[in-house]
Amino acid sequence: MKKSVLIFYNSKRGSTKTYADWIEKGIISSCDEKGIEVVCEKSNFAETNLEELKEYDVIIFGSWLRGSGIVGLNSVKPYIDGLQKRTIIYCCGISEYNPANYAQIMEINFNDKIDMSDVKLYYCIGAYDPNKVKGIDRLMMWIAKKILIKGTIKEESDAGMRMKKIIEEGADLKDEKYARQVIKGAMEIIEK
Ligand SMILES: Cc1cc2nc3c(=O)[nH]c(=O)nc-3n(C[C@H](O)[C@H](O)[C@H](O)COP(=O)(O)O)c2cc1C
Repeated sequence: MKKSVLIFYNSKRGSTKTYADWIEKGIISSCDEKGIEVVCEKSNFAETNLEELKEYDVIIFGSWLRGSGIVGLNSVKPYIDGLQKRTIIYCCGISEYNPANYAQIMEINFNDKIDMSDVKLYYCIGAYDPNKVKGIDRLMMWIAKKILIKGTIKEESDAGMRMKKIIEEGADLKDEKYARQVIKGAMEIIEK
């Protein structure tokens, strides 16, 4: 039977969208290899009808991290309630890829009345360009940098200094390898 996949993404400066493109391409080619018929739709968060999420076999929501929060997730949560086993969330940030960071993202974003324990969560490293960040976002990053300098953040020594450098100079750390874990998670749901 034909499987349906929806990838909807919230991307302010492009990284989360790039991952959505990689994920779509990867799911289509994995399904091709395995002889699975699939229809993969991709849409911008703002144009997605959340009421229709229940129509899909796999629901993938991607968004960027802002102050450790997955932007837009709170408005998506009521619509995935009951669909957790077929839902995947990936988020893009510039913090390091490590278990402590993953645990913190999980703790902050999956701590809710809605049970998120069956939702698969993935972290994908994105990009940051200080020249493109304006207004309140710029102020927020300035404060983040000050905190890192003061050493208020626990792992301030190395990781904190690396982060400070990224905030000051920018970095593009996107890598298709992070999309591959999302694709693997989607295939697990498709092949169930
Ligand atoms: C105001 C602001 C807050 C941010 N907070 C975090 C954060 O808490 N953790 C993190 O890893 N990255 C954080 N970032 C970095 C973005 O999540 C990162 O640049 C991401 O790749 C942006 O995705 P996009 O290109 O799809 O918009 C922040 C960026 C801005 C501008």
